[in-house]
Amino acid sequence: MEERYTTLGEFIIKKQEDFPYSSGELSRLMNSIRLAAKIVAQKVNQAGLVDITGAFGKENIQGEQQQKLDVFANDIFIQTLVNREIVCGIGSEENDDFISICGADGSNNNKYVVLMDPLDGSSNIDVNVSVGTIFSIYRRISEDGTPVTQADFLQKGINQVAAGYVIYGSSTMLVYTTGNGVNGFTLDPAMGTFFLSHPDMKIAEDGAIFSVNEGNFNQFEQGVKDYIGYCKDHSYSGRYIGSLVADVHRNILKGGIYMYPGTVSKPNGKLRLLYECNPFAMIIEQAGGKATDGKQRILEIEPTELHQRVPVFCGSKNMVEKLERFL
Ligand code: AHG
Ligand code: MN
Ligand code: MN
Ligand code: MN
Repeated sequence: MEERYTTLGEFIIKKQEDFPYSSGELSRLMNSIRLAAKIVAQKVNQAGLVDITGAFGKENIQGEQQQKLDVFANDIFIQTLVNREIVCGIGSEENDDFISICGADGSNNNKYVVLMDPLDGSSNIDVNVSVGTIFSIYRRISEDGTPVTQADFLQKGINQVAAGYVIYGSSTMLVYTTGNGVNGFTLDPAMGTFFLSHPDMKIAEDGAIFSVNEGNFNQFEQGVKDYIGYCKDHSYSGRYIGSLVADVHRNILKGGIYMYPGTVSKPNGKLRLLYECNPFAMIIEQAGGKATDGKQRILEIEPTELHQRVPVFCGSKNMVEKLERFL
């Protein structure tokens, strides 16, 4: 069969065959994410027709107004993973604390935990702009058979076993890495099947797009301001959608830098280390790019809290290195 007809399901099985002693747990986990992504994609496509846009009426722990689709996507991903008994714990942007999962017999024998941003860019859903899902997978460090602990979730990004995102855009794509390159799959809506459309994705070493919310400019540190000035002096294109998934996806395909710096009022910026920055840092590094908080590699930050925020600068290698010289 030619490469262009490879489905995500086949690809996952093929990857597993590369590791003859694997238990198949990670493959089953990826298959569950694939299913949940299709359900959410279907719902996103109905936005405006069914009662799924607008506020849910509650705040999450970050003080954000939850949107209905935040709650729907969170429920779907959690249910899909829980019902299939393939993870021992889940951490989510929309849940104050992590969830511990045991099997029907009360056992905790699964070895992976998932951290996720079930619906990224949710403020964009009402205006028909791309949104996404971000996920990060770790092997538990607590003993098999015991309930998961906070420490299972507070692992450095370098320990990620897999990371990925789904973009619900003009088409739906699922992009993921297991630490051996990055591959992208596009959903054929007529067939309900993801096909390998972007094998071995690489981000160009140089780019000419900078993505940042310039409304916060006056609150950035001088080095960031100077780098933005450099981008303008070189007539780079400013592109900012306000959906991390869509902004970074575009920059991976076209070359560019994404920045969410700290500000005077929010020194750690806005984006969350465990389910926004770390998964993207792994994907970008696997694609040949770089991701830093301005001081150190994102993947080497020692996490202290589930919903911890960090500044982030990521994208084309030479652009990130140029920025680092300004900081
Ligand atoms: P989420 O919708 O998951 O809460 O994430 C929102 C994030 C991210 O998607 C986006 O890049 C960023 O917030 C935009 O923030 P600003 O509106 O401050 O630019
Ligand atoms: Mn949110
Ligand atoms: Mn987000
Ligand atoms: Mn979100």
